[in-house]
Amino acid sequence: MELMNEIWKKAKADKKRIALAEGEEERNLKACSKILENELADIVLVGDKKVIADKAQKLGVNVSGAEIANPQTSERASAYAEAFYELRKKKGMTLEKAEKIVKDPLYFATMMIKLGDVDGMVSGAIHTTGDLLRPGLQIVKTAPQTSVVSSMFIMEVPNCDYGKNGMLLFADCAVNPQPSAEELASIAISTAETAKSLCGIDPKIAMLSFSTKGSASHDLVDKVTKATQIAKESRPDLSIDGELQLDAAIVKEVANLKAPQSDVAGKANVLVFPDLQAGNIGYKLVQRFAKAEAIGPICQGFAKPINDLSRGCSADDIVNVVAITAVQAQAN
Ligand code: ACO
Repeated sequence: MELMNEIWKKAKADKKRIALAEGEEERNLKACSKILENELADIVLVGDKKVIADKAQKLGVNVSGAEIANPQTSERASAYAEAFYELRKKKGMTLEKAEKIVKDPLYFATMMIKLGDVDGMVSGAIHTTGDLLRPGLQIVKTAPQTSVVSSMFIMEVPNCDYGKNGMLLFADCAVNPQPSAEELASIAISTAETAKSLCGIDPKIAMLSFSTKGSASHDLVDKVTKATQIAKESRPDLSIDGELQLDAAIVKEVANLKAPQSDVAGKANVLVFPDLQAGNIGYKLVQRFAKAEAIGPICQGFAKPINDLSRGCSADDIVNVVAITAVQAQAN
């Protein structure tokens, strides 16, 4: 896939240090070996040295170039506990509790990012999205000028003229169940930035609804209209329009009928869904019915990059998500 080739090239050009928080897991070990072989990133495997060595040997993969950090024995654990306690003491955290929590590999890897020991982290082959996001939201938090962490999928639809030769970005399909208008605007802006920095796309952003330019009236439509207005006001440099129905957003003929004045309708390559039910169902529909490749969910809006994996992921998926994380870290 052309886009992933570009992302690999970018990752290699300025190598970053990425933690694999599920460092003892087999797909992570296979991925680690491939990442090191292709010089995509320096890797820190979070886990026990002996478990990792035994599993790598059994799998016949070479991970000797990776650093290993064991949360149970690491010299950094006390610094991480101290820093975590300072960050969360107003929320009732005690040092004693913090010392226990940072022994959890996901919290440990997140503290590695926070204290600058790695540039990014990837996890989720054996944890849920919520398990991964929660430490990130509590510790790394959002980037400046970003009110929410969100996610996007790069959808590559075969034999398709919509978007950029069938490539479209869908957001938010994995994080925010019910974004407010302000949060929806922030998701649109984050996705525009991801489109530019990661995909080399000049974003044309459609704020999706079941209404086009007032064709229906409902509180849910009002939320999308308000989000569009907020996004346009805060980023007048971006091409954003709404509220638009999906067909008006991507099909020229429908756009000409329903939204002829719009500079986005009929040309959208970034689709912002009004909530997580629509976004999550929407990307899966396109993935299954149109046999699209869905790369993601890629998290955006964190102060430093953290990315999730699907529990059904392959080792190659992990390699690609690490390359994406490394490129996001370069942008930081
Ligand atoms: N951006 C920034 N900060 C956030 C966000 C966000 N989107 N969401 C929560 N927070 C912060 C809160 O402000 C809070 O901070 P604080 O503790 O410092 O005050 C902290 O994160 C925890 O907030 P909670 O509201 O307690 O969040 P919770 O832990 O309940 O859940 C989560 C957050 C995990 C993101 C939740 O919204 C969630 O589960 N989302 C859906 C995930 C999911 O299941 N996706 C679908 C599957 S993925 C797929 O199909 C590809």
